[in-house]
Amino acid sequence: MPSLYDIARPLLFRLPAETAHAVGHGFLRATQRTRLQRVLRARYAVRDDRLATAAFGQEFPSPVGVAAGFDKNARVAPALAALGFGFVEVGGVTAEPQAGNPRPRLFRLREDRALVNRMGLNNDGADAVGRRLSGLDVAVPVGVNIAKTEHVAPANAPADYRWTYERVADADFFVVNVSCPNSQGFEDLQNRESMTAILEELQEAGAAPLLVKLSPDLPEPAVVDALAVVRDLDLDGVVATNTTTDRPTSLRSHNRAEPGGLSGAPVEARATETVRFVADRVDVPVVGVGGVASAEDAYRKIRAGASLVQLYTGLVYEGPSLARDINRGLLDLLERDGFDSVADAVGADL
Ligand SMILES: Cc1cc2nc3c(=O)[nH]c(=O)nc-3n(C[C@H](O)[C@H](O)[C@H](O)COP(=O)(O)O)c2cc1C
Repeated sequence: MPSLYDIARPLLFRLPAETAHAVGHGFLRATQRTRLQRVLRARYAVRDDRLATAAFGQEFPSPVGVAAGFDKNARVAPALAALGFGFVEVGGVTAEPQAGNPRPRLFRLREDRALVNRMGLNNDGADAVGRRLSGLDVAVPVGVNIAKTEHVAPANAPADYRWTYERVADADFFVVNVSCPNSQGFEDLQNRESMTAILEELQEAGAAPLLVKLSPDLPEPAVVDALAVVRDLDLDGVVATNTTTDRPTSLRSHNRAEPGGLSGAPVEARATETVRFVADRVDVPVVGVGGVASAEDAYRKIRAGASLVQLYTGLVYEGPSLARDINRGLLDLLERDGFDSVADAVGADL
């Protein structure tokens, strides 16, 4: 039987991608604080001890979470939890509200099951997002992705990140985004010195657990440097990876020519390789993200060393049953391979 999303998808796909996203959001928001939320939870949330896992001092009912960018303004985390996601990373948030780049700035690459975005960190700003985070009642951990305000010079980035952190401090974990391809000045933040200055400032302000999110476009020596910072500062985890400005030759959709960050199926293998590279070199949990759209995709990242996985683009193509389908599929894969829990499978391929 076709799912409701099989019917909704062609209609949504007729709309510009950002409009379709807003419609999806509107639906999710409408379910919150109503009985529908309980209906969604009963239908989609898979509760099984084998899926429950702990990382950086937090308990996750499922290892499958929502990646940054989907809920930039902390509006739909309860609905996402009801859909079966084990955690939500809201943001990226900047100190001041930002309008982002002119539209259109989000593009579907349908044939490639991918997206290109150059949103440019549009968000309501730290004060508004911080207030919403404080008022949230969510059954799963909610982290916040903190980014540099567009007009702030890289030299002033540490104070800018700190200002934002102090307003969104009511979150369960903090991800420092130094890897946004669509906002000015980010390319200057991923060197050892800049990262150290930003992360030390945040640690001094009390940000914990503190994770850093890496770009898949970093050359290997820069990744090695970033991981040295993770070890030196005793960070709590690494998120790998953000979108890529690279365009694999396999892409077929004409939207591949749009400037911006590519996400979805074409980045899956590369992101998994980065997870493996990182997990091989640090002892802290790795959050694997990039192209996860099935249980098999999630399982590959987990076996490559990811303690948790996240997704965004998969949700656009697969719809609201995706967390449930991945969670159920993971249980089958664990059973097939003789693992007692997700935690047992982490790094099995290392
Ligand atoms: C429209 C859009 C907006 C995004 N915004 C952010 C962001 O604000 N901060 C961030 O760290 N990553 C952001 N991302 C990147 C995702 O969190 C994720 O790292 C990337 O999309 C790869 O995962 P996926 O293939 O499952 O989409 C964004 C992605 C998309 C598609």
